[in-house]
Amino acid sequence: MKACRGEVADYTPVWLMRQAGRYMSEYRELRSKVTFMELCRSPELVVEVTVHARNRIGADAAILFADILLIIECLGPKLSFVKGDGPQIDPPLRDPDEVAQLPEIDVDELEHVYAGVKGIREALPRDIPLIGFAGAPFTVASYLIEGGPSKNFEHTKAIMYHRSDAWHELMGKLARGTASYLQRQIEAGAQAVQLFDSWVGCLEPDDYREFVMPYSKQIFDAISDEVPKIHFGKGTGLMLELIKEAGGDVVGVDFMTPLAEARQRLGDTPVQGNLDPVLLLGDREVLAKRIDRVLEQGQGQGHIFNLGHGILPNTPVDNVLYLIDRVHEVSRK
Ligand code: CP3
Repeated sequence: MKACRGEVADYTPVWLMRQAGRYMSEYRELRSKVTFMELCRSPELVVEVTVHARNRIGADAAILFADILLIIECLGPKLSFVKGDGPQIDPPLRDPDEVAQLPEIDVDELEHVYAGVKGIREALPRDIPLIGFAGAPFTVASYLIEGGPSKNFEHTKAIMYHRSDAWHELMGKLARGTASYLQRQIEAGAQAVQLFDSWVGCLEPDDYREFVMPYSKQIFDAISDEVPKIHFGKGTGLMLELIKEAGGDVVGVDFMTPLAEARQRLGDTPVQGNLDPVLLLGDREVLAKRIDRVLEQGQGQGHIFNLGHGILPNTPVDNVLYLIDRVHEVSRK
């Protein structure tokens, strides 16, 4: 929490994006008994997965177990996760004329998420903050429109470039829903929130400014000032200033952007990142050097150590434990 506010901390705090997932055998075992959606809809299991993962690796924060795509079901389509194929949204929103018929998002439908937040808060050690999160409108819209993961975002960009009326209406709807969703997580006990705009790096900065920024900004402006807000996107090296301008107290930096450069360009704004998750798959000697380099470039004060994107499923848990210990040890004054 100190690092989020840019204050001096005893050491550089560390948590890992997607820290509660498939690289852990305990998670895989649980998932062999329930589907991903069943897990997400069960507050008891959400508490178990979130708290277990944080305690197992000793991270300085827990992140709510959920998914950025849960909110899509509030708009009507069905969400499922198919082994090997990732998320599927059925039916995808391909016809821009259908945007006008989408309902306003009613975040009461995600009551089970807030119940999970409350339960996690009770079960976590008192000094470990809980991070709530949501997907940013661009990234969520891309899944809603494409119907699943995408390489080129062709359907998404077709609506954005050619039917900007429908695009703006959709983004407005997602922004209002997402703001309410995050506010409800905060009211339930989340002590910080992160907005994931994972795929926004597929846009040119001017397009980001025109088609995306107003909606991410609307979310940050609408939610409580009392909790720190982290704003992350991958591939954002050319638009860090715009990400900062859109809002949030901390800018998440991906692994392709030199952290020293991010710090220089962002001034006093705290940063989070940015070790390449692939480094956790290999040799400890190389890993150690790279951890130290991230710490050095992060410059201590106002730096939250994290990966530059989500942890990969085949990461050895031992390497994660090593990473967290090393970050603490090397950065402790
Ligand atoms: O960080 C955590 O551990 C908390 C939980 C969390 C999940 N998804 C659980 C999950 C968080 C923060 C997310 C965010 C998320 N989801 C993002 C943004 C972060 C990023 O990686 O860019 C995105 C793009 C998604 C969409 C999504 N959900 C995809 C593409 C997939 C399938 C591929 C994959 O990476 O696993 C999911 C499924 C998903 N979400 C799983 C988990 C643990 C795996 C599901 C399973 O058990 O098989």
